[in-house]
Amino acid sequence: VRLRLGTTAYLLTSPDDIEHVLLHNHAGYAKTRRLTGARGRRLLGRGILTSTGGEHAGKRRAFAPAFARRSASSSEPAVSRSIDELLERWRPGTEVELAAESMRFARRTILRVLFGPDAPEVDLLDEEVAARQRYLDYHVLSLAPLPELVPRPVVLRHRTAARRLDAAIRAAIRERRASPGDDLLSLLCRAPVEDEAIRDEALVITVTGHETLGAALAWTLYLVATHPAAEQEMLAEEMPGDATERVVLESLRLYPPTWIFVRMALADDTLPSGLAVGRGQKLYLSQWVTHRDPRLFADPEIFDPGRFTPERSLGRPESAYFPFGAGPRLCIGKHVALLELALAAGAVTRGRRLKILPGQRVVPRPGLVLEPRDGIRAAVSAR
Ligand code: HEM
Repeated sequence: VRLRLGTTAYLLTSPDDIEHVLLHNHAGYAKTRRLTGARGRRLLGRGILTSTGGEHAGKRRAFAPAFARRSASSSEPAVSRSIDELLERWRPGTEVELAAESMRFARRTILRVLFGPDAPEVDLLDEEVAARQRYLDYHVLSLAPLPELVPRPVVLRHRTAARRLDAAIRAAIRERRASPGDDLLSLLCRAPVEDEAIRDEALVITVTGHETLGAALAWTLYLVATHPAAEQEMLAEEMPGDATERVVLESLRLYPPTWIFVRMALADDTLPSGLAVGRGQKLYLSQWVTHRDPRLFADPEIFDPGRFTPERSLGRPESAYFPFGAGPRLCIGKHVALLELALAAGAVTRGRRLKILPGQRVVPRPGLVLEPRDGIRAAVSAR
């Protein structure tokens, strides 16, 4: 679909085209300068997320072992500790707002994953990470060209937050160098790179590793609470098993936290669909649009975790579903994220019954991530 955004840009709707851009000819496309330029790197550090080309490949290789599936399982104690804390807050008889609570859970969990389940940084940095997230939302969604020059409270608070986060991460890296532990920061410290590169990675993970996840958990809990058949299937499982995993995958299909992203053509190219793309043109890829395409998912608006059984997945193109992206820039935290979501959704469903309060309209807001616009209020009762 041709988009009229001042310059020529397209929204890709064919999985073959999406696969071409993310996988087969990934080297022919780059992230836009908004993210990888000086400003993007000042905002988000010089880590994997904002680097390109050979620099990106080198960093990705250096840090891959820290994020491998096996390493992800070492996050389990951190996630469990956060789940205990959540269930403690969600006492039977109380009312909770799922979006804010899930975001809080995700923020504290990524700090525990990074620094360790009982690390002092969890309480110390929770508010700092929240302040940084508010600032990034403000920055990205602001219409002002240089919003950081306007000394609004959100900007001033961010300065302090950035300083405190930076100091805490640097100190923690020094400690891990002296005596390594099992946390993600210790795993990052095993990479053959300078402290500065580890700091960049840890800093960006405090953002990328929680905002998407908080939104995903809120949507998942909402969908479970409103679909008793899926809830029953989850309850029939001992530990989070296949049914829980399918619920998580289906939730990421219907409400993908990363709902759109963009690549820029580095040279002229022709896509499998025949579209001629000129150098410098932008191609948008939207999980929201592709995941709801009836040619790829029958009755796309219906929540149906059974779509992800191996039998029913047969014949579906790989790139019809890409909540974590694909190719060399596939989300490096995918295993951590899926583990965290399955453990949290499973434990909350087994531990509490959630009833979505009547009289609210639950609508997604497409911001930095896709989140419930007005929150989701739910009543908590004992299971
Ligand atoms: C449900 C949760 C999550 C979702 C939906 C998600 C989604 C994504 C997507 C779509 C990308 C690719 C963007 C692109 O190609 O332009 C990405 C990249 C990335 N994600 Fe995630 N993510 C999640 C959780 C996490 C977690 C938990 C971490 C860290 C522990 C993380 C760290 C990263 C990093 C560092 C990148 C950059 C990778 C690269 O450019 O090579 N993400 N994520």
